[in-house]
Amino acid sequence: MAVKHALSLKILAECPTTKARVCKLVLPHHTVDTPVFMPVGTQGTLKGMLPAQLEELDCQIILTRIRLNNYGPELLDKADGLHNFMNWKRALLTDSGGFQMVSLLKLAEITEEGVKFQSPHDGREMLLTPEHSMAIQNSIGSDIMMQLDDVVHSTTKGPRVEEAMYRSIRWLDRCMKAHKRTDCQNLFGIVQGGLDPELRKICVQEMTKRDLPGFAIGGLSGGEEKAHFWRMVHLSTDYLPRNKPRYLMGVGYAVDLVVCSALGCDMYDCVFPTRTARFGSALVPTGQLQLKNKQYARDFRPIDDNCSCSTCSRYTRAYLHSIATQETVACHLVTVHNIAYQMNLMRTLRQSILEGRFPQFVQDFMDTMYPSRNY
Ligand code: GUN
Ligand code: ZN
Repeated sequence: MAVKHALSLKILAECPTTKARVCKLVLPHHTVDTPVFMPVGTQGTLKGMLPAQLEELDCQIILTRIRLNNYGPELLDKADGLHNFMNWKRALLTDSGGFQMVSLLKLAEITEEGVKFQSPHDGREMLLTPEHSMAIQNSIGSDIMMQLDDVVHSTTKGPRVEEAMYRSIRWLDRCMKAHKRTDCQNLFGIVQGGLDPELRKICVQEMTKRDLPGFAIGGLSGGEEKAHFWRMVHLSTDYLPRNKPRYLMGVGYAVDLVVCSALGCDMYDCVFPTRTARFGSALVPTGQLQLKNKQYARDFRPIDDNCSCSTCSRYTRAYLHSIATQETVACHLVTVHNIAYQMNLMRTLRQSILEGRFPQFVQDFMDTMYPSRNY
């Protein structure tokens, strides 16, 4: 018998020319308009931002990475879940921890049992298994939990790619068994298979046999060529079910959000907008402004004339330039703007699909981001 999932997806509009669509994704803590970009934090915080500020920016869902041994399930159970603990009332998505271990800690070792790594806190050897990851994510109480997957770098070739794909399927089955709260938390499978179309296809077909509330496309955006990246996304969304959310992991450049929405993706996350803000780089429709550059020292315009964020309505490029080296305040102000930029991009993208003019939106976006030269 089919399991009842803790989410529903209502398709509001589909673009007749591309695969783009607008949906309402109803999650236990909040209803999310898709395509959506999810800012990334680490368990309990989003660097330099308070939950109330994220709400003010119209952010409906955030991704939080789990911490493995800082505070354990007992504390979160006592605090009645992370939503309560961090005072974020809207939707929360947790990643499983494996990708983070493999990408951040070079010393991680993968076995069939799980991901073995040295604790960054005290150097102790730890093993993250699918069961352990589910236990942590169940105690966090996130609206969407991700399976533990075996991720290889997107440019890896040879038998390791196939091994990781099949292991991710076996780990998905262990996650499904270990997931204790199917009534109020949604577990997503993650499609792997590197840049091999045949492996991707097998993985999607195998995963969609399982009765899961949603699916992610993983293992991309690691420096492979755009043509390969987009081809894998295109192929994956062709095989993923129309009535379930499709989440493209680790993607956050504006152009990728636009292209991958045209290819039918609904959800995205990336550290890029917040990380680049901390380096003084502001996102604008024409690209990025490096506010530390001398050219902004006497520039009394806001970052973006058309942005209504609290930074743009109060501060000039010259001011931001002058404080750019006083890390925390400047970081905060640029982070606010960059999140506003991402939210605004997704809002106008959704609006264009709803109004049947998505192809024109794409054309205008590309013309502004990549203007043709004046000869
Ligand atoms: N974040 C970005 N890519 C991935 C992926 O392939 N797997 C997981 N778990 N997280 C990711
Ligand atoms: Zn702004």
